[in-house]
Amino acid sequence: MTHITSFFALVLLLAGAAFSAPIENRQVIPAGCTNITISVTASSSDNIPLPPDLTTANFLLLVNPILSRVLDAVASGTYNIAATYCPGVGTRANTLQILIHGGSYTKAYWFGEYFNPDNSWVSYASSEGYATLTIDRVGNGDSSHPDPITIVQLPYQAEQVHQIIVMARGGTLPLPAPYTGTIFDKIILAGHSLGSVVTNNLNAKYPSDADATLLTGYAIFFPPQFTGVFVQSWLAPAFLDPRFAGYNPGYLEFNNENYLTFLFYAPGKFSQSMADVDFATRGTVSLGEAASVMIGSIETTYTGPVMVITGQHDSIYCSTLNIDVQILLGTPLCDMSANGIVGKAATLYPHASDFKVVFPNAGHCWHLHNNASYTFGIAHDWLASQGF
Ligand SMILES: *[C@@H]1O[C@H](CO)[C@@H](O)[C@H](O)[C@H]1NC(C)=O
Ligand SMILES: *[C@@H]1O[C@H](CO)[C@@H](O)[C@H](O)[C@H]1NC(C)=O
Repeated sequence: MTHITSFFALVLLLAGAAFSAPIENRQVIPAGCTNITISVTASSSDNIPLPPDLTTANFLLLVNPILSRVLDAVASGTYNIAATYCPGVGTRANTLQILIHGGSYTKAYWFGEYFNPDNSWVSYASSEGYATLTIDRVGNGDSSHPDPITIVQLPYQAEQVHQIIVMARGGTLPLPAPYTGTIFDKIILAGHSLGSVVTNNLNAKYPSDADATLLTGYAIFFPPQFTGVFVQSWLAPAFLDPRFAGYNPGYLEFNNENYLTFLFYAPGKFSQSMADVDFATRGTVSLGEAASVMIGSIETTYTGPVMVITGQHDSIYCSTLNIDVQILLGTPLCDMSANGIVGKAATLYPHASDFKVVFPNAGHCWHLHNNASYTFGIAHDWLASQGF
């Protein structure tokens, strides 16, 4: 950082008024990042055995009885995962952050939706020297779109991330020169929302995969009163949108910008232009993802450090009401005590070397709110304090 500052100071001195770019000239996608495609072969024996005729209309009727039984379905295959790799520098060049987006998003989430550099987690991580690998979970963005009911479920996505970590540690990620063959010796997993559920699934099954874990937009369980109304009323088949023409009807998207904005943003804490970009570029949620989030979170034997970062006004996790009642009452305020739905996530990580909870003054998608970079700073200062 010192070198960059003095370099720009020198350029300013020489070029005078002709050069007026700010010293912190952050871009949503830092220079040097490249898009790659990772072919991932994975098999999960923990998917839910959903019926192939599952729709938004019969969702609750069919899913609840299945979840009350202990039955697992096998899902396997080889699928493409679209990813963006941004190299690290210096002592952190071999420390890889793997970033896993939430529902209705893609890897663009971690880049501030390619809209505002102040909301780009990747930009912040790059300026601190970390390498990042930001993926589209299977069934999302530019990744393969297999069966949205039987394959595109959170436990399957966790198996795929496990395979990606095996590649990162073994030097076999398909990285371009001069990064080909890089062996990453420290893996930091960061999820948002459904991506945090994937991360928790992975930590439960493969507790030594991640060296550090960040669970953002997360709490101990997904509120059961939430999912039914959400799936049945707030989502529509994505193929009705020309952007997703030809998709299997089991892929859904938000049908109303007010719903998306209510769920993901806290009033007064965001810019409307960001929420508009978010809705215009919104992604999908599969029926399999929606059903598997209801399996809930799992206690792990993971021993690394964990930080949970959830907005004080997270409309998904901080509401105790039915969602159609909550929307009339307005944004909820979270129980921020250790016994609240967020604080209780500590019980899933009884062996963690460190466990911290942070409540930014924002909504579910706090990364896209004003002042997100303040919280990016908290997360990265904590990583540094834990030796990363
Ligand atoms: C990568 O792909 C995304 C779309 O998926 C695109 O917006 C971006 O410009 C591409 N390039 C880089 C370097 O991320
Ligand atoms: C960001 O949030 C922190 C913590 O609430 C606050 O101290 C700081 O003043 C805020 N910064 C801006 C620019 O709003």
